[in-house]
Amino acid sequence: FLIGFRPHFTDSLPMDDEQTGLKDRIIIKFSHVVAENTPKGLAAEHFARLVKELSDDRVEIQVFPNGMLYSEDTEFAALQSGDIQMIAPSFSNMSVVEPAWLAMDLPFAFADQQAVDAALQGELGRRLFGTLNSHKVQGAAFWANGFKQMTSSVRPLQVPDDFRNQMFRILPSRLLVSQFQALGASTVKIPFNEVYGILKDGSADGQENTISNIVSKRLYQVQKYMTISNHGYLGYVVLFNKRLWADLSPEVQRVLQQALEETTAWINQETASMHEKQLLELKGIDGFTIHMLTEKERQQWIRKLEPLYDQYEQTIGSELMSEIGRPK
Ligand code: LMR
Repeated sequence: FLIGFRPHFTDSLPMDDEQTGLKDRIIIKFSHVVAENTPKGLAAEHFARLVKELSDDRVEIQVFPNGMLYSEDTEFAALQSGDIQMIAPSFSNMSVVEPAWLAMDLPFAFADQQAVDAALQGELGRRLFGTLNSHKVQGAAFWANGFKQMTSSVRPLQVPDDFRNQMFRILPSRLLVSQFQALGASTVKIPFNEVYGILKDGSADGQENTISNIVSKRLYQVQKYMTISNHGYLGYVVLFNKRLWADLSPEVQRVLQQALEETTAWINQETASMHEKQLLELKGIDGFTIHMLTEKERQQWIRKLEPLYDQYEQTIGSELMSEIGRPK
């Protein structure tokens, strides 16, 4: 069973860097799946810059965007094994590891970003971090992306019936399967960087995502309709390999923590204005029709989707469920 075994963190342990002459240089590889001009992409770059400054160039965060190293299906295992040292998967992806994270996929659970921030900074966030203990990963921060919107190439999505018989690409979350089932639609789980292709060739009719993901991957070119529904939330947990984290000196840990705190505050502010700006861009695109969900339609969606709260109470756990409450 030792075949293929190699020491972990060859790149990340303190070492002499012959080229720079620096002692104790630490390299942390940060892999993610989205584009650079998205909340996560920008946060990753911002974090790397801050770490470089605060560490006097002794710690280097190497960012690998667009799934160029790993897709969301493979990045968690790569983090655990130490092939990379940092990732920021979406909550839905984390639900594959621990079902408690499904709590964040419950539809209409949060009224706005402030409500999400309050929950993640409180008991809900504490409990979600707690689920990581047995997985060789260190939870370090929550980064915002924002609320998901629905898109389709078939017809405008206004009332629940409009979803009937359509196939939607989803993140790998059981709850999202149920969400679309409740709307009469079917689902297919596909890695993010394949979404454009399957929408283009018609193997899926629609998908749900944040505006920044829709814009940066040009999904508007292969979709005709978008509904601003804000029905679900897309956020990330920033994770380090646990052994790497434990091996870092307290000084380096402090640098990373400070850089993370600043990055988190920055991105959680930045994302709302980014989405507003990008929504304006989308409104100017010919052949892409945007519908704002009305309050009456929103109540219809909630009525269809609220049964998920009972359906998933046991899986998610009643304590976490009580932190979430009911659709707002
Ligand atoms: C998706 O797969 O749609 C998102 O998780 C991508 C991301 O990480 O924002």
